[in-house]
Amino acid sequence: MCGIVGYIGEKQAYPILIKGLKRLEYRGYDSAGVALINAHCSTYKCRGKVSDLEAEVEGKNIEGTIGLGHTRWATHGEPNDINAHPHTSMHGKFIIIHNGIIENYNRLKSKLINRGYEFKSETDTEVLANLIEYIYLKGKVNAVTAVELALSKIVGAYGLVIACVDEKDHLIAVRKGSPLVIGVGSGEYFLASDATPIVEHTKSVIYLQDNDMAVIGLNGMNLKNLNSKQSGEKKPIIHKLELDVDEIEKSGYDHYMLKEIHEQPRSISDTFRGRINPATHELKLGGLHYNMDALTNAKRIIIIACGTSYHAGLVGEYLIEEFARIPTEVEYASEFRYRDPIIYKDDVVIAISQSGETADTLAAIELAKEKGATVLGVCNVVGSSIPRSTDGGVYTHAGPEIGVASTKAFTAQVTVLTMIAMQIGQKSGSLTKQEYSDLIEELALIPDKISAILKKSDEIKAISELYQHATNALYLGRGYLYPVAMEGALKLKEISYIHAEGYPAAEMKHGPIALIDENMPVIVVATKDKSYDKIVSNIQEVKARKGIIIAIVTEGDDTISKMADHVIEVPESDFALAPLLSVIPLQLISYFIAVLRGCNVDQPRNLAKSVTVE
Ligand code: M6R
Repeated sequence: MCGIVGYIGEKQAYPILIKGLKRLEYRGYDSAGVALINAHCSTYKCRGKVSDLEAEVEGKNIEGTIGLGHTRWATHGEPNDINAHPHTSMHGKFIIIHNGIIENYNRLKSKLINRGYEFKSETDTEVLANLIEYIYLKGKVNAVTAVELALSKIVGAYGLVIACVDEKDHLIAVRKGSPLVIGVGSGEYFLASDATPIVEHTKSVIYLQDNDMAVIGLNGMNLKNLNSKQSGEKKPIIHKLELDVDEIEKSGYDHYMLKEIHEQPRSISDTFRGRINPATHELKLGGLHYNMDALTNAKRIIIIACGTSYHAGLVGEYLIEEFARIPTEVEYASEFRYRDPIIYKDDVVIAISQSGETADTLAAIELAKEKGATVLGVCNVVGSSIPRSTDGGVYTHAGPEIGVASTKAFTAQVTVLTMIAMQIGQKSGSLTKQEYSDLIEELALIPDKISAILKKSDEIKAISELYQHATNALYLGRGYLYPVAMEGALKLKEISYIHAEGYPAAEMKHGPIALIDENMPVIVVATKDKSYDKIVSNIQEVKARKGIIIAIVTEGDDTISKMADHVIEVPESDFALAPLLSVIPLQLISYFIAVLRGCNVDQPRNLAKSVTVE
C-alpha cells in the first residue's frame, strides 16, 4: 500500500509529483505529501486526498527540480498531518518516503531515544529517517553509506526514496518487498511505485529487484544489489512500457470501476488474443511452455490468492477438476503461509494476483518454492513481483485496473484459468477433441455476450435503486456459480458498506435462512446448469419466508421468472463459462447501489488497491 513518486531533472518537480500521486492514489488515500528540494527544502503534507494537499500547498513555494511525493495507507499511526509522509530526520538532514513496514522499529526507536532523538510522529518511517541520520552524523559517512548501514539493521519491507539535504544532486531509491520503478528520460529520472505516473514521460523503465539500491543523479544512475556477494555496480535492464496513457484515464466514465466493468468485452479479448484460435481450434499459453509437463503430471494443484483473486481461484478449482481431472485446492494465501502446509515436490502451486504485489501471496509463493513445488503465477501487472518470483505463468493482460474493487481482473483471471484447465485436459486426454474445440468456440463468444449484458445497464440500475437502502444482502449460487455469489457479496460490501454474504445455496438451510424476512434481498445466481432444479427449490424456500429474490438467469428462463421478484437475463453459455457472464450484473448492482448511496466507488474507505502489507 502507499504510493511513492520521485523526480530528478531540469523540470519543476511539483506538477509531475502531484499528477503522479493522483495516479497512485488507488494505493492509499488517507494522507499525502511532497518534499521539494530547493535552496531550503520545502515539505508539505496533510491528512486527506491529493486534492487536499493541493489546497494546502496553494500560494506556497513549490520551486524545485528534485522532489518526492507520497500517498499513504496508514499502518503505524493514524492518518493525520504529522504521520503523513515525507518524514524528515530530527536534524533535518534526510527526507524520506516509504511504502512498507519496518518490523523492528520499536526497538530501534528506543535506542535512538536513548541517544537523544525525539520523534514527532508515530510512524516506523520516521525511525528509519532518524537512524540514517544518526549513522550519517556519528559515522561521518556519506548519505549512501549511511542508508546502506541503516538498512542492514532493518527488518521489514520497503520501497524507499531518500533525499539528503547536504547532497542535493541525487536521490537514493531502495527496494525490498515493495515495488519501485525508475523511469529513464532524457536528462531526467522518474520514480514510482508502479509505471502509471511514469508512462506519460517516458516508456523506458527499470524495475528494481529486491535489495537493489539506485543512486540517481542528473548525470546518470548507479545501481547495485545490497545482498549480492559481488561488490560493485549492477547493469540496469531497461524495459519498454506497453502501457498507454488512455488506459489509465477515466475516458468519459464517472468512475474507473464503471469504465473497467465496460472494458470487459475488450479485456477478455486481450486475455485470449494470440492464445486461442477458434478457426483452427488451437490454444497455446506461451508462459507455460516449460511447465506443461509439471502441470499434466501434477498429483495436486494448489491455488493461492486473496480477495477477488481467491474467488477466481475457486472457479479455477471447478474448472481444473472438471477439465483436467487433477485434485485442486484453493487457499487464502494469508492462511497458507502461516500453517506449515504439506506440499510435495510434484504439487503445482498457482498464485493469482491482479497487482502481483500482494504481500501474503508473495510470502506463500516463497514457502511453496522452499518446499520444492513448481510455482506459477496468474497476474495482471507486467513486471510486478509475483511474475518475477514464479517458475512460469500467464499474464491476464486485462490492462490497468485502477478502481479498488476488482472487476475486469476477475474475468481475466477466470479466462486464464479456463485456458489452463483446457490445456491440461487436452494434453492429458481428459477432454475429448470435440469438447476441447467446442470450449474454444464458446470462449471466443464470451466478449459479445458480455456486451449484450452491459446493454441491460438501465434495467439493472432500476433494480438497484429499489435496494439502495438495504442493510444486508445474501448472495447464493451452486457449483461454478457459488464463487460468483461470493464475489458479488464482496463487491457490494467493499464499495457500498452494506453487509453481504455469499453462500453455496444449499448451505442456506444450515443457518443463513434464519436471516430471511421481507426486508432481505437475496441475489441468486441461477443460470442453467447441472444444479438448476436444486437452486429453483432454494428460491422457493426463500420465497416461502417472504424474502426478496433478484435472480440472474439464462435468457428465456420461464421458471424462475415466475417466482422471482426481479430477473436479470444473461446469454446461454457452456456451464463452465457461466461465471464470466453472471458476475457482470453483480458488478453493476454493487456499482449502482454504491453510487446511489453516495459512496466513493473508486476509493472505498479503509481499503487500498494493492495490499503490500501482511
Ligand atoms: O492484487 P491482488 O489480486 O493480489 O489483490 C487481492 C485482493 O486484495 C483484491 O482482490 C481485493 O479483494 C479487491 N479489492 C476486491 O475487489
